[in-house]
Amino acid sequence: MSKGQAFQEGQMGLRLMYKYTCLTCHSINKKTIGPSFEDIAKRYYGSPPQYKQRLERSIINGGTGEWVGISMRNCVGNKKITPQQATIMTEWILSNKK
Ligand code: HEC
Repeated sequence: MSKGQAFQEGQMGLRLMYKYTCLTCHSINKKTIGPSFEDIAKRYYGSPPQYKQRLERSIINGGTGEWVGISMRNCVGNKKITPQQATIMTEWILSNKK
């Protein structure tokens, strides 16, 4: 992927976060209701592909129980998100690795 292409995908990932109101519960670098995207990236960056697939699934269907101690709430996800969008969003989340 060229640098320009990576940038465009990055913009798209963030746009989708706004579009699906993920930022009401997640911030990039601070724990709010959910874990920050930096913390999620730190935890999963470089993980085997099945973890990426799990993140994509929780972006669509929501998830719970992975961040015990950080939050008692669930991730709601959004069922309108397509698998392709979930992939872009997952890549964007992981790109927040410091
Ligand atoms: C109502 C608040 C809320 C909204 C809205 C929300 N989340 Fe979450 N999210 C959470 C919480 C709380 C957790 C931690 C759940 C857990 O312990 O497994 C979480 C966890 C996650 C995780 C980590 C899952 C894992 O397996 O470790 C990802 C990725 C994520 N959210 C992405 C998103 C995206 C993308 C959206 C927008 C479609 C979104 N979230 C919307 C509250 C929310």
